Amino acid sequence: MEKQQGPIGVFDSGYGGLTVLKELQTKLPNNDFLYLGDNARAPYGNRSFDVVYEYTLEAVKELFSRGCSLVILACNTASAKALRSIQQNDLPKIDPEKRVLGVIRPSAEVISDLTKSNHVGIVATQGTIQSNSYKIELEKYAPSVHITQKACPIWVPLIENNLHDSLPGKMFIKQDIELLLAENEKIDTIVLACTHYPLVKDYLEELLPDSIQVIAQGAIVAEKLVDYLNRHPEMNLKCSKNGRTDYLTTENETIFNEKAGIFMQKQVAAIHIKL
Ligand code: DGL
Repeated sequence: MEKQQGPIGVFDSGYGGLTVLKELQTKLPNNDFLYLGDNARAPYGNRSFDVVYEYTLEAVKELFSRGCSLVILACNTASAKALRSIQQNDLPKIDPEKRVLGVIRPSAEVISDLTKSNHVGIVATQGTIQSNSYKIELEKYAPSVHITQKACPIWVPLIENNLHDSLPGKMFIKQDIELLLAENEKIDTIVLACTHYPLVKDYLEELLPDSIQVIAQGAIVAEKLVDYLNRHPEMNLKCSKNGRTDYLTTENETIFNEKAGIFMQKQVAAIHIKL
């Protein structure tokens, strides 16, 4: 292994980024990953810009200090509220050779290929919707696509507490989707713009007619990362490749292991850290 090689850092406020990690592992099976969930301070969805930025920067610094040269913010809320400042203001000071990438741009880049009606629904946390990041990115990559956004603040707490499959949980989710579709009946594509939401994808597909497709971001982000590494061989060289994934959490590790097991559908063994 080269001296400077290290895992690809994957950050999320909690467990949601694991849905992205899974796809990254599938697309890049030889790469090493270091997952960090700031579970003790999740959810980020309703927090202010300043707080999400501060927490995300702490996480990124932690992952850099553990040998990562490339960090993926596998969290829409962190991507929406912190990515630009970190890329523009912090990285040049911390280490201009390191990179931090988010999940919003890769998703925005492919949205126009997914919709036929050109009407797309975006469901996400309050923070992501308020930031207007999807609108801003889509104006660049798909100006003809009309988006209807719906904040679903209850979904993350439901998923984090494994209540999304319960009857009341499903009722809340259904209500939000009905409100979204009532606003625009031409929607043929719903983007799950929160990395927690793939856990309710099956239920949404059950609920919706076949004419409406539900898109999770994990596979899109993974494909775009493969493309990025091909276009940036200097960064690819800095990524270690032993097919290994380690997990860090700011929560109690036993709690993390139990819940992360649900997302990963296998046992994980995390290390507790303080940020
Ligand atoms: N998983 C995060 C996202 O993609 C949000 C979860 C939270 O509210 O902390 O937006």
